[in-house]
Amino acid sequence: MRRKTVRYLSRYLLPALFLLLLSCGQKQNRQSQAVSDSTIVFKHFKLANARRQFQKAITEFERQNPGLHVREEILPSNSNIQHQFYVTSLESHSADFDVFLIDVIWTPEFSLAGWLEDVSDLFPDSVQSQFFPAPIKADTYQGRLFAIPWYIDAGVLYYRKDLLQKYGFTPPTTYDQLVRQAQTIVQGENQKNLNGFLWQGKQYEGLICVANEIISGFGGTILDDSGRVRLQDAPVRQALQWLKDTIYRYRISPRWALSADEENTRLSFLNGNAVFLRNWPYCWTFFQRKGSPVKGKVGVIGMPSISGKQGRSTLGGWQLAVNRFSRKKVLAKKFVRFLSSAKMQLEFALTVGTKPSRRNLYRNRQLQMQQPFIADLYRILIQAKPRPVTPFYAQISQILQIEFSAVLANIRPIPNAMHSASVQIEHILQLEQGTK
Ligand code: GLC
Repeated sequence: MRRKTVRYLSRYLLPALFLLLLSCGQKQNRQSQAVSDSTIVFKHFKLANARRQFQKAITEFERQNPGLHVREEILPSNSNIQHQFYVTSLESHSADFDVFLIDVIWTPEFSLAGWLEDVSDLFPDSVQSQFFPAPIKADTYQGRLFAIPWYIDAGVLYYRKDLLQKYGFTPPTTYDQLVRQAQTIVQGENQKNLNGFLWQGKQYEGLICVANEIISGFGGTILDDSGRVRLQDAPVRQALQWLKDTIYRYRISPRWALSADEENTRLSFLNGNAVFLRNWPYCWTFFQRKGSPVKGKVGVIGMPSISGKQGRSTLGGWQLAVNRFSRKKVLAKKFVRFLSSAKMQLEFALTVGTKPSRRNLYRNRQLQMQQPFIADLYRILIQAKPRPVTPFYAQISQILQIEFSAVLANIRPIPNAMHSASVQIEHILQLEQGTK
């Protein structure tokens, strides 16, 4: 009973309270600091390590456009919380912000709802083709572009080069190898806090990203190319079983993986407490920084697969969008063009570690020198597996988050959970058919 109450509180009441506080704070802000006609409000999440670079970029934009100002408003980094915030604001046609960062999975939903300004005129087709095709596809709705890919993400596997070498291992390409290496090293090191493999298992969007790529590494998929739900296929069952086994059977992942997100797994690995970590490419700059306990000891590769299958990482990333209810759309577009320029993307890549959405930057010498794995990453990014691209993605993800979590927490058998998820998702897809 108590556990249920706590779950209820943390799942529904606390986020609602948080959003309420956020909007109260912003109202107060607005009253004390009226936004002038020449000020654009840029809303984005708290991107790790990016504070100074954002300020630098804004100063540069203001220098190039005398009289214009940009004011940042910052949201928490959890994708679910940001999504709730935007849905609430945009449903009431809020004009409180002009430019905002959106997750690659939201563009179809926000476009269908009519919340995004058409930005096709910013870049002609010839320039659009310089970007990675998958996020451009996700940002295109009924032939028009509604957001500009700003940076691109794909899941990667970080490993401790020094430890693998010490035990004579080469980086794992299969899940079996990953398990064996993690077990051997953890046993051999006999170090109290050392975990074999960290991943994001909390009930949120990050879990879908992990599951999506493990499923694909087992040769399965959530939806197939013709849009059919494939959750009851054997590879999906095997993938979920493997993830579960990392905790309960192989014991290479700690139980706290079930409440882990990107940042706490990054910190644990940074402090030398894990052999392998699944995370996004942004972590690299943190690991290599001066003072990092793992500096020079980390390698990075694409996600493994079962033998004979091709591992594919989940496609992620963030897009620049213009609020359709903004009263300063022309200025807002100017800022989007500026921030998505090759120069800005390169600066953010070098200082923050975000990965450019413009493909030719992967040939940049400075970036290649600073981040030698960038060439391999290009291959991983180009092959990355998108989550289902549909305006109903948020509902689909919500169902998957509940069912995957129940499986991993060992409270629901895999076949039951996947049957239930399939029935619910099929229903949603039928609704989608009705909107076409
Ligand atoms: C990263 C990805 C984003 C994904 C999120 C999940 O920010 O870029 O696409 O939804 O992680 O936590």
